[in-house]
Amino acid sequence: MPIRPARRITETSPKNFGMFAKAVQMKGDLIHLELGMPAEDTPQHIKDATIAALQAGHVHYSDLQGIPELRDAIAEKLRRQNAMDITADEVIVTNGLTQASFAAFMAFLDAGDEALLLAPYYPQHIGKAELAGAKVTIAPLDAANGFAINRTLLEPHITAATKVIALINPCNPTGRVYTRAELQIIADLAQEYDLLVLSDEVYEEITYDNAAHISIASLPGMKERTISMFA
Ligand SMILES: Cc1ncc(COP(=O)(O)O)c(C=O)c1O
Repeated sequence: MPIRPARRITETSPKNFGMFAKAVQMKGDLIHLELGMPAEDTPQHIKDATIAALQAGHVHYSDLQGIPELRDAIAEKLRRQNAMDITADEVIVTNGLTQASFAAFMAFLDAGDEALLLAPYYPQHIGKAELAGAKVTIAPLDAANGFAINRTLLEPHITAATKVIALINPCNPTGRVYTRAELQIIADLAQEYDLLVLSDEVYEEITYDNAAHISIASLPGMKERTISMFA
């Protein structure tokens, strides 16, 4: 008899990698629309620095929160580029946004809590919220309005159990880069209903047509109630 996997595996919905599994078996030049796969190579200076670090023997455990010099550099970037009022003590280095968001959902959601996602959404976040024991609720945005954030579309989905709003800005899959006014709607709701915003900003550098990416944690009163995640 095969050993039965835990129900948290069989009864949650982290099933969005099926398409990617099929894609990696296909030959030829594929354009991956099933997940974010930028076409650009990794810049040479990053490759060189990685090789140099390995050759210099940096292969052991480091500070668990992240190497202090790296956290200093990240905090400086967040102050300069993202207008976030932040120190290195408030930075945690992870292996990308999947680990960061998994840790954030696990750290802030209990069984019975609700996590509100805006549709269309990045499906992987559903599985992570469910693994944390939470129920996922969905606020559908309006295609005819360019998937803009609109208070009347979001507010009816907030209940007494809602704990978290998961925001993706710039958004995958819509490509929308939210304006300050749209982010202010989320900020107002978060403050009125005492919610945490998990802000996935993995595509902050991929914007077009002069759209300006704004970090919601830079809005007044939001630093205290936002986990901002970058890659
Ligand atoms: C919105 C969004 N968040 C997170 C990720 C995954 O980020 P990472 O590769 O840093 O784990 C992706 C990848 O497609 C994504 O589209």
